[in-house]
Formats: sequence, structure tokens, C-alpha cells
Amino acid sequence: MLKLENINITFNKNTANERKALQHIDLDVADGDFVTVIGSNGAGKSTLMNVISGSYEADTGKIFLDGKNITHLKEHQRARTIGRLFQDPLRGTAPNMTIEENLGLAYSRGKRRSLTIGIRKKDVSVFRERLKELDLGLEDRMKMPVGLLSGGQRQALTLLMATIVTPKLLLLDEHTAALDPKTAEKVMRITDKIVKENALTTLMITHNISNAIEYGNKTIVMSQGKLLLTIEGEQRANMTVEKLMKLYSDTAEDELSDKMILQE
Ligand SMILES: Nc1ncnc2c1ncn2[C@@H]1O[C@H](COP(=O)(O)OP(=O)(O)OP(=O)(O)O)[C@@H](O)[C@H]1O
Ligand SMILES: [Mg+2]
Repeated sequence: MLKLENINITFNKNTANERKALQHIDLDVADGDFVTVIGSNGAGKSTLMNVISGSYEADTGKIFLDGKNITHLKEHQRARTIGRLFQDPLRGTAPNMTIEENLGLAYSRGKRRSLTIGIRKKDVSVFRERLKELDLGLEDRMKMPVGLLSGGQRQALTLLMATIVTPKLLLLDEHTAALDPKTAEKVMRITDKIVKENALTTLMITHNISNAIEYGNKTIVMSQGKLLLTIEGEQRANMTVEKLMKLYSDTAEDELSDKMILQE
């Protein structure tokens, strides 16, 4: 489904601030895989997502999505089939537009239909059903501007928007990190439900090690721009937070960041 071949990206080349953010990254993600991504600060996790989404162009290497070479496709072209969420709940929704209007925009993604036609009655009932599944009571507030929602409600809505037209790939960059622990857990459960129900191929960066083991079917560990470990199958089934931290310190040259360790 997603294939990365020898991806390299260096920032500020030939300056004192040169930074090899991604080095020789090869990655194969199968259809329906839910991959969790962990690593220390500056390991290159967000850069990896930026390269996949087309926000950054890699210096070398190739990217294939669903058998198609997307290496040189522009970000907005890739956005038709790649859904993305960030840490900041303010990104991804238009605050002055209502819940219904935001969903309408997301629903028209990839379709030829003009936005000016507005939201059809049939669509509104689809939105209401999907909002109900979030179990946040948003289905009764569809005319409310999104700016009035809490961070957690907004992330849940953004998730719905990113998946209402089934994407080929879903990229989640610490999308629960700015939420309080209880809300983060709720958004995580909603995420898992949506991913499973739609069998979405997903990459999720998290600094929560137990989430990284609990959710998904594969974990990749990054350090200093490199893909350090891939954990799957039986090894993953028997993985614990302690074992993973030990594995990291035995393999990596740097330390796991405090924010990951303090989670536990
Ligand atoms: N646009 C950019 N220009 C220059 N340097 C960059 C840019 N984007 C990322 N970097 C650098 O590349 C390295 C990898 O950054 P990246 O954001 O991918 O790390 P990360 O693993 O997501 O870390 P964190 O856990 O802190 O989010 C860092 O040293 C960062 O400073
Ligand atoms: Mg990051």
C-alpha cells in the first residue's frame, strides 16, 4: 500500500546547522496496517510524515502509494487520498464555519461537485449518523461554529473529516498529545474504532509508549533520522513498556525523550 525506498532528507545542507533528518528510510506498509511510530525528540518522525504527505520533498528516494509513484506529486494532490491530523486541535477545521459546513467541505474532497451547491439534506443525515458514532453529542449541535468546541471534540471532528471520504492513508502526528489524559484516551478509542471499521492504512506518531504497543499491529522506532526497529508479530504481542524502553536503550545511540518516559 505505502512503500518508501531509500528516502533521504537533509536540512540546511552545507551549513553549521546541517541536519540529516531522514537517512536511508525504507518502509513497507501493507494494506490495512496500523503502524505506530515512536522515537525521541528530533528523531525525524514528523519529517517522515511531511515527506509522505508532500509537505517536504525528499532529496532522494521514491514513494509509492497504492502502486502509484507519488514522489513528485504536489501536497494538495496527495491530500485527496491522504488524511492527516496534527497535535494542534486548531489545525484542520475552519473555526467560523459550523460543524455541518466543515463536514460538508470534507465530504466534497475528491468529488467534482462544486462547493457552492451547499450541503444536501441527504448529506446532513450522513453527517448526523457519523457524529452520533463519536458519542460526544455533536449530532445535536451541527449548526454550532467549530471554534466553540473543546480540543477533544475538535480532534474527534477533524478525525471524522479526514475519514468521511475514505482515505488511502491516514497520518496521525501526536494527535492526542495536546489533550488532557482522559480526553486523549477517548480520542484514541474513537481513532481505533474508525481505523478498524474502515480498515484504514494508518501511521500514528505517539509519545505514549503504552498506546504505541496497545494500538495497531506494527510499531516502528526511529532514532536520529534512521529507522531503528520494526516490532511486529509475536515480538509485539509480548511487548511491554519496560521491554521496549530497554530495547531502545540497547539499540539507539541517544536516549528516549523525557516526554515519552514521563507518560508512564
Ligand atoms: N523545515 C525544517 N527546517 C530545518 N530543520 C528541520 C525542519 N523540519 C525538521 N527539521 C529538523 O529535522 C529534525 C527532525 O525533526 P522532526 O520534527 O521530524 O522530529 P520529530 O521526531 O517529529 O520530533 P518531536 O518528537 O519533537 O516531534 C530535527 O532536528 C528538526 O529540527
Ligand atoms: Mg514531531
